[in-house]
Amino acid sequence: MKTVYTIKEVRENIKEWKKQGLTIGLVPTMGYLHEGHKSLIERAAKENDRVVVSDFVNPIQFGPKEDLAVYPKDLKRDEAVCVAGGTSLLFNPEPSEMYFKDAETYVNVDKITEVLCGARRPGHFRGVCTVVSKLFNIVKPDRAYFGEKDAQQLAVIKRMVRDLNFDIEIVGCPIVREADGLAKSSRNTYLTDEERSAAVVLSLSLKKARVALENGERNADKLIEIIKCEIEKEPLSKIDYVEIVDSENLKKVSVINKSVLIAIAVYVGKTRLIDNFTWR
Ligand code: PAJ
Repeated sequence: MKTVYTIKEVRENIKEWKKQGLTIGLVPTMGYLHEGHKSLIERAAKENDRVVVSDFVNPIQFGPKEDLAVYPKDLKRDEAVCVAGGTSLLFNPEPSEMYFKDAETYVNVDKITEVLCGARRPGHFRGVCTVVSKLFNIVKPDRAYFGEKDAQQLAVIKRMVRDLNFDIEIVGCPIVREADGLAKSSRNTYLTDEERSAAVVLSLSLKKARVALENGERNADKLIEIIKCEIEKEPLSKIDYVEIVDSENLKKVSVINKSVLIAIAVYVGKTRLIDNFTWR
């Protein structure tokens, strides 16, 4: 595996592979890679001849009060995860390589970015869509891999790819969890031991909702209440949102009679964690 830092170097490799007729899978990440990222890389390696992983903490998707300055980084560890997962090229650019100082072009997806995390993080999905579009133009992959952990991000990227006619297949990959159910996340490193134990409440609350669904409950308000009630039992937690939405257009639903996304965001201490599941 090669680690490169410039767009030019990526393009040279891609050009060579395309000449040989090889297929390319892209896994966009912000680094500090864990088993969740690795599952995307492995899937990409299975389905493509070459895998490119981008490792870039994208400044324009962070709000002014968010964790850009302290976002964890460890390139050596990331390289080891990439090699183990079957990566051919790791792209680790500086912000100055990715953004012109006087850049004026951004990619904005409208309605479905105005709910859930998008409603609480203004500008976040504009930053995500802009960087992902740039990566698509730099790498020109056949397929790109995204985790269901960030369910809204996956829905937004699918919409963007459809609307802008990117000739790229978007592959969604299942959430990878810790043994106790907590969804793996680079942000879990912010948790103290006590908060880490408390964080299990996210997946526990979703499990309760799933059981209620399996027992026939179809009223969204009732299911939301079950989830909220469970989270509120944990004193270190504070609910940001608990919502049930149509899994494609992310509009709120009141009765569950089609595929829905059940999504939650919860502060555990100062750390904001998300989790979800799709009920089909
Ligand atoms: P990051 O948070 O590093 O995540 C990179 C990819 O890994 C995303 O598609 C995310 O959904 C997936 N992922 C993270 N944790 C996962 C888990 N536990 N199980 C399965 N997949 C998981 O998401 C971003 O970076 C950025 O917004 C990015 C798309 C790279 C744009 O900057």
